[in-house]
Amino acid sequence: MALLTVQNLSLGYDAHIIAKGLNFSVQAGDYLCIVGENGSGKTTLIKTLLHLWEPAEGQVLYGDGLKKNEIGYLPQQTVIQKDFPASVREIVLSGCQGRCGLRPFYNKAEKQLAEKNMERMGILSLAKRCYRELSGGQ
Ligand SMILES: Nc1ncnc2c1ncn2[C@@H]1O[C@H](COP(=O)(O)OP(=O)(O)OP(=O)(O)O)[C@@H](O)[C@H]1O
Ligand SMILES: [Mg+2]
Repeated sequence: MALLTVQNLSLGYDAHIIAKGLNFSVQAGDYLCIVGENGSGKTTLIKTLLHLWEPAEGQVLYGDGLKKNEIGYLPQQTVIQKDFPASVREIVLSGCQGRCGLRPFYNKAEKQLAEKNMERMGILSLAKRCYRELSGGQ
């Protein structure tokens, strides 16, 4: 089964449907680009895929043992985040929050994982930079 399967999905807010009849699946290793005009529903689709927003119709299924807390989501900077004085390293580490449960600190393995993933992404040189000073792409 695919990691993600979308069946006959309709998106919307109350009675206002912004997209309907969406069907696709995402396999392990896939890259999926969602392209559309401003206001066409990209963010709403992502929120619906993450089960942060209820679909108006249809369903979003997780497969291959994928769990909700194993999905990372990095929204582009919002007004609130603009005043969030965290370093890039801290932001990357926050991707481990789903594993922490009630533990208030990150452990050594999680810190190493964050370093490894910054290296993989070629952003180690940005680690100490303030997150709010980065460009959207960075
Ligand atoms: N919380 C909300 N309540 C009601 N309508 C909303 C809400 N959020 C978004 N919308 C509307 O839903 C439509 C899709 O918005 P969405 O944010 O998904 O678009 P987008 O494709 O991500 O746009 P952008 O490229 O500007 O980020 C827009 O018409 C928007 O005004
Ligand atoms: Mg958007």
